[in-house]
Amino acid sequence: MRLLVTGAKGMLGHRVVDVARERGHETRGTDLPELDLTDAGAVRAFVDAERPDAIVNCAAFTDVDACEANEELATRVNGDAAANVARCGVHVVHVSTDYVFAGDARRPYVESAPVAPTTAYGRSKLLGEEGVRSADDGHAVARTAWLFGEGGKNFVDTMLKLGEERDELSVVFDQIGSPTWTGHLAPALVDLAERRASGLFHAAGGGACSWFELAIEAMRLRELDCRVVAVTTEEFPRPAPRPAFSVLETEREDGIRLPDWHEGVAQHVKEVVPA
Ligand SMILES: NC(=O)c1ccc[n+]([C@@H]2O[C@H](COP(=O)([O-])OP(=O)(O)OC[C@H]3O[C@@H](n4cnc5c(N)ncnc54)[C@H](OP(=O)(O)O)[C@@H]3O)[C@@H](O)[C@H]2O)c1
Repeated sequence: MRLLVTGAKGMLGHRVVDVARERGHETRGTDLPELDLTDAGAVRAFVDAERPDAIVNCAAFTDVDACEANEELATRVNGDAAANVARCGVHVVHVSTDYVFAGDARRPYVESAPVAPTTAYGRSKLLGEEGVRSADDGHAVARTAWLFGEGGKNFVDTMLKLGEERDELSVVFDQIGSPTWTGHLAPALVDLAERRASGLFHAAGGGACSWFELAIEAMRLRELDCRVVAVTTEEFPRPAPRPAFSVLETEREDGIRLPDWHEGVAQHVKEVVPA
């Protein structure tokens, strides 16, 4: 099939392009500055010219703290632009986030769990989901979380870098989530495009852990001699509040079940060149 991937220079998008090409799909990646998805006319003209069979929309304004400082821009990029892509008459697989939830649950969030974002990023991504759904209920929305992978700024790489440089690191232990390797997620997104899936899917690494546990696992795999100290969220304030618990699971029979996060981190650490 002919596949268009937006956000193709990003951490997830470039992996989706690679996976789709490996599977033999005629794949076109786009990103800023070639195409600004907030420009509805430009998006329509681009899609009309490329005539893809499906679009995997990985483009987003992903800096959670910057979104908090500029919600208007976040709304345009994560909300309006997603709707622009969804209104082109082509099947869309749109990527969303665990931040659409309040993050105060005790049990994993499944697809039918009520949404209640507490950040500008979460609100803007929820607007994007709604824009995609209202454009055409044949589209698919895949929510993921705690992404890491080659070719993008991510927590695991930050820990590996700091672990090389320092003897001791403080990491929060009271935020629990679903670490997800792009190498596991990207094929699942291409699957959704191939089967023209519709509706809402949770698509995150299996199991759950804290940032503290994730840091320890990354250091262990790279055999770094750096002590990781557990600290609370209160000791580590950020401009946008972080969810305390935002583990994603699926309740769908035809849902996405990715390998356990340990496997994702192991593959990632093997793949990335030591700092
Ligand atoms: N990273 C995570 O932990 C995480 C967790 C849950 C869900 N997600 C979702 O997963 C998806 C992929 O995330 P990622 O981490 O791969 O993001 P990323 O690395 O930041 O890539 C996003 C790409 O979109 C581009 N972009 C931004 N504004 C655009 C616009 N107006 N028009 C066209 N392209 C634009 C960015 O370009 P610039 O870099 O030039 O701005 C960037 O290349 C996003 O939908 C994100 O919300 C991410």
